[in-house]
Amino acid sequence: MRKIAVLTSGGDAPGMNAAIRAVVRTGLANGREVFGIHRGYAGLLEEMIHPMVPSSVANIIQRGGTILRTSRCPEFHEKSTRKKALQILAKHQIDGLVVIGGDGSFRGAQALHSEGRLPVMGIPGTIDLDIPFTDETIGFDTAVNTGIQLIDKIRDTASSHDRIFLVEVMGRHSGMIALHTGIGGGAESILVPETNLPKKEAVDEICKSIDRGARRGKTSHIIVVAEGCAFGGVTKLAGLLEDRGYDPRIAILGHTQRGGSPTAHDRLLASVLGAVSVHALLSGIKEGMVGVQGNDVKVVSFQKITKKQPRFSEDFLEIAKTLAV
Ligand code: ADP
Ligand code: F6P
Repeated sequence: MRKIAVLTSGGDAPGMNAAIRAVVRTGLANGREVFGIHRGYAGLLEEMIHPMVPSSVANIIQRGGTILRTSRCPEFHEKSTRKKALQILAKHQIDGLVVIGGDGSFRGAQALHSEGRLPVMGIPGTIDLDIPFTDETIGFDTAVNTGIQLIDKIRDTASSHDRIFLVEVMGRHSGMIALHTGIGGGAESILVPETNLPKKEAVDEICKSIDRGARRGKTSHIIVVAEGCAFGGVTKLAGLLEDRGYDPRIAILGHTQRGGSPTAHDRLLASVLGAVSVHALLSGIKEGMVGVQGNDVKVVSFQKITKKQPRFSEDFLEIAKTLAV
C-alpha cells in the first residue's frame, strides 16, 4: 500500500480534525503518501483529491469542524455512482481509504470495499454516539460538554425566575446526547426518541414532575428533549404544556453542540483512532471500523456494524429519574 486517502462524511463532529491529523501524520511517518479528499463522497466524485504533508494538518487539533469539509451525497446510494468513485480512486492510484463519519458513511465505505475490493477503514465520528461496537464516537464528549455548559447558564436564569425550560438538544434518532446532557446538567426530565412514550403519557409525566418539584420548593425545572422526539419539535411540546396551564420557555441548542473546540477526551480519542486506522490498513486488514471496546481498540467488520442497532442505556434513564426528585 503506497497511497492512502482520508475523507470526512456526514455530520461534522468536533475532533474530526484531530483524526485527520493523526491519519496524515501516521501515514507519512510510515513512508506512505497521504491524500485528503475534500467534501466527502461528493468531493470524491468531483476528484477533489489533494496531497497532504505534515504542515497540511498543523494547528488543527484544537479546531472544531473538519478542514476537509464534509457533505451528504445521496447519489452514493447508487452502485453506478460508486463505480465512478472507485474508478477515480484507481486513477489516482489510491490503494487504501480512511472514512471518518457515522453509520451512513460506513455503509458507503462497506460498498466501496465489497464492490471494488478497496481496503477501507472507518473511524467513528459523530456527536450522536449511535454506532454499535464502539463505546465512544469522536465528538460526543464535546457535544455533551457544550450542552451542559449551556444548561448551566439556563439554570441560572430559570432559578432566578422560578421558570420551566424546555431545552432541545441534537439527536434525530438517538437520545444519547439528551441522556448524558440531561444527567450532567441535572435535568428534571429527559425525553428521548428511543422510549417512544405516547404523547399524552409523556406530557402527564412531565406535569407530575413539575408539580412534585414545585411542592418540594424547586425554583427551576429543566426538561431536556432530543430533537427526534415525537412531539414534532420542542415548540409544540411547549404548546401542550401551555394548554395545561404552565408557562415554559424554550431554548434550542441545535448545531451549537456540533461546533467548537474538541475536549481533551475527543482529541485523544481521535488521535488514537486515526493512528490505529492507518496501522490496521498497513497490517493488511481490509475493511472495518476502529472502535473502542472497554480498554481496547478493535477493528469490527462494517457488515457487523451496519446490521446491528446502536445500544441505548435504559438504565441511565432510570438513574436520571431517581436523581431528579
Ligand atoms: P453519517 O455518516 O453521519 O451517519 P449520513 O447517514 O448522512 O451521515 O451518511 C453520510 C453519507 O454516506 C450519505 O450522504 C451517503 O453519501 C453515504 N451513505 C449513507 N448510506 C449509504 C448507503 N446505504 N449506501 C451508500 N452510501 C451511503
Ligand atoms: O448526526 C449528527 C446530527 O447532528 C444529529 O444529531 C442531527 O439530527 C443531524 O446530525 C442534523 O443534521 P443536519 O442539520 O446536518 O442535517
